[in-house]
Amino acid sequence: MATATVPRLREKKLTPHTESVEILRAAIFHTPKNPFQHSDGLIALTDGAIAIKAGRIAACDDYIAVRALFPDAVVRDYRGGCIVPGLIDTHVHFPQVRITGALGRSLEDWLETVALPEEAKLADPAAARVVAREFMHGLASHGTTTALVFGAHFAEATAALFKEAEHRGLRITSGLVLSDLLLRPDLLQKPEVAYRECKGLIEQYHGRARLCYAVIPRFALSTSQATLEVCQTLLREESSLTLTTHINETPDEFERLKALYPWANDYLSVYEKYDLVGRRSVLAHNLHARDGELKRLAERNASVAHCPCSNAALGSGVFPMQRHIDAGTHFALGTDIGAGTGFGILKEALQAYLLQRVAHTSMTLTPGQMLWLATRAGAEALSLENEIGDFTTGKAADLVYMRPAQGSTLHTVFTHTEDPALMLSALLTLAEQDCVGEVRVEGDVVFEGKP
Ligand code: GUN
Ligand code: ZN
Repeated sequence: MATATVPRLREKKLTPHTESVEILRAAIFHTPKNPFQHSDGLIALTDGAIAIKAGRIAACDDYIAVRALFPDAVVRDYRGGCIVPGLIDTHVHFPQVRITGALGRSLEDWLETVALPEEAKLADPAAARVVAREFMHGLASHGTTTALVFGAHFAEATAALFKEAEHRGLRITSGLVLSDLLLRPDLLQKPEVAYRECKGLIEQYHGRARLCYAVIPRFALSTSQATLEVCQTLLREESSLTLTTHINETPDEFERLKALYPWANDYLSVYEKYDLVGRRSVLAHNLHARDGELKRLAERNASVAHCPCSNAALGSGVFPMQRHIDAGTHFALGTDIGAGTGFGILKEALQAYLLQRVAHTSMTLTPGQMLWLATRAGAEALSLENEIGDFTTGKAADLVYMRPAQGSTLHTVFTHTEDPALMLSALLTLAEQDCVGEVRVEGDVVFEGKP
């Protein structure tokens, strides 16, 4: 196993939580209200400021107003760049970071030949520790502060992910990935072993630091009734757990599922039978959903993780966004690394925009809607909307400072406009990893880009 090639960030030497106030001055964008429902959902401040006190948002407004509130605060002048809430990835696979970019395959082919052999390597805990470091660096260095992560099929590897997340200070909800069918034998667990290992991980990591536990049946095709019953029991025993899995990703999946679950009327009904669909459920993809499934997802307040880059890369389909909106089904963005094309959640927002422009039932996302999908919508999917997702006073100061790299096209655009609408849409179109200047979780700096 090669040693880590990503920089080992300094040990967790976090910003001290003193009573002093720090002001960050920059263009600021956030969406405290849903721009799909409110025309004033997007707040854009060209010369804005965020005041941070003890890791919390003490104020967010025009710089002059914030400065007047806190005349003694230390001011960091980030003009020329902009600040958005910490990005939220609602669907990403930890063991797949090293296989990102394997294009040209269908889901089934990609799982068999690329993803599952890679995932099997995490049986080695030492390998898992290095991959966990690479993975967490990938998130933080792209401005992602919160993620719902598919762990590994191995308890030790999943523990390594939690440990690295705690070390880095990110908000991670994750868990052991469960399967007892279909996949290569070294990735399968017996249901009773799955239960025992999940209980151990829940006890150790759920609610610790910024970590939460998710129950993760990989997908209905790889889980027997007994494993789905294990998931049901785990959620019954601890109602604050999240449930995440895949659904309706490819057109023929449901037909295959019927061989396992002949009574199922649709894909969702399999998860419903085991009480897996509720406010804390995040189901990835949902490209080939039937109307009844969308309606029931909305009634149960469940969320869908929309992963447009992965959907296009695997040729799985185009997300029926307008149908989700019409049904009132909540959705947020996910990268689906390694089937996805990178850790950038803003890139997912752009891909969502591009695909919806040319979709059969086309729609045109606004910059405010795109930002909302990348931030606040994810917070809602993870039931964290009272803590993160926008810059409302009192919330945790989770944020990304983006500053256009010298010589970049984004730099050219920013140099020639003060129109906040154009700045945000240019950011969503052009921002890449090299723009990420500073990333904070609860006021703590968790990543600093090169100056
Ligand atoms: N369905 C089951 N496993 C996977 C996975 O790893 N990635 C994607 N995109 N779909 C899946
Ligand atoms: Zn996935």
